[in-house]
Amino acid sequence: MNILVTGGAGYIGSHTVIELVLAGHNVVVIDNLVNSSKASLKRVAKIVGCEIPFYQVDIRDREGLEKVFAENKFDCCIHFAGLKAVGESVRLPWEYYDNNINGTLVLVDVMRKHGCKNIIFSSSATVYGNPAMIPITEQCPKGQCTNPYGQTKSMLEQILTDLQVADPEWNVVLLRYFNPIGAHKSGTIGENPNGIPNNLMPYITQVAVGKLKQLTVFGDDYDTPDGTGVRDYIHVVDLANGHVKALQAIEAKCGVEIYNLGTGKGYSVLDIVKAFEKANGVKIPYVIGPRRAGDIATCYSDPTKAKEKLGWVAQYDLEDMCADSWNWQKNNPNGFED
Ligand code: NAD
Ligand code: WQD
Repeated sequence: MNILVTGGAGYIGSHTVIELVLAGHNVVVIDNLVNSSKASLKRVAKIVGCEIPFYQVDIRDREGLEKVFAENKFDCCIHFAGLKAVGESVRLPWEYYDNNINGTLVLVDVMRKHGCKNIIFSSSATVYGNPAMIPITEQCPKGQCTNPYGQTKSMLEQILTDLQVADPEWNVVLLRYFNPIGAHKSGTIGENPNGIPNNLMPYITQVAVGKLKQLTVFGDDYDTPDGTGVRDYIHVVDLANGHVKALQAIEAKCGVEIYNLGTGKGYSVLDIVKAFEKANGVKIPYVIGPRRAGDIATCYSDPTKAKEKLGWVAQYDLEDMCADSWNWQKNNPNGFED
């Protein structure tokens, strides 16, 4: 298929571009590089052995998008582009609603004008809020999001669903990611957060590489086996392959379909620290701190639907995730600047 990947220079997008090309698809990337650099796509080109056509375009820029669609014919868009920092979204709600919601509205309008009515959207387990069931199936009702970032995901799911109901020519796949970590085996691409990382794994790898002194564990008094928060960590390459598999749903003219992409296993913060130390032989000093506002105790998926309907199952285990995260960080202590 001919696929437009928005946000394809970013963490999950760059890994997905690789798996798409390896599966024989033609890929064009658009990205405004607000949270990424062209260097990631250069490294992707090295891995797959061909250049990836790239346009530096903001998804809110209608004219820029028109040019991309005039020069290319797309069967489907995999839509990663968006701002994703939870804390920042609380400080900058307007910017998040404008970028994520307005950007997607412009994108889908240009898509439909050009007859491309197939979209795979990066949603998040955050839409379940404090989940009503564990493990979380797709039947679990959406919950209260505690931040504007989460609201944009929840609202965009609704917007894309309404669009499909009004025009059944659309096929919409909503992929709810759990916690992506890890990196490509080559160690040449990976997650490259700006400033001090908010997420657990990049924080740990920066402690390991000596950029940060110690990890603060956000609370050890949750109702979990060791008192620390439990999450469903998924290798980013498995997540990338989930998108390749999701194209089957598009081809089968699925209407609207929701899939959880997770492993179905929950690990605590201390499980992750121990697994990282064991996999890599590096000590991670940590202290226990207070809970972080908005955090929940436990969140992990039931990924049965993706297995049964798409034949997708996560292949990598926690040891792979820890080893690959570290391989990326230690070879690229300054991200893509090296
Ligand atoms: P990322 O920041 O690495 O990638 C997003 C990319 O989108 C970046 O390259 C950025 O430059 C680009 N972008 C942002 N706004 C844009 C705009 N207006 N126009 C064009 N490009 C724009 O983030 P990621 O971790 O790869 O996440 C990809 C998607 O998956 C996002 O939509 C994110 O919300 C979603 N998601 C991420 C996680 C996670 O934990 N990483 C979890 C669930 C969902
Ligand atoms: C994981 C666990 C923390 C950092 C976030 C977003 C979610 C999704 C994925 C996009 C929690 C603990 C963390 C630290 C810690 N993103 N922790 N010390 O919060 O599950 O999900 O990223 O959609 O929307 O909310 O991920 O990696 O921040 O935290 O103890 O320095 O690690 O409390 O239990 P989270 P995370």
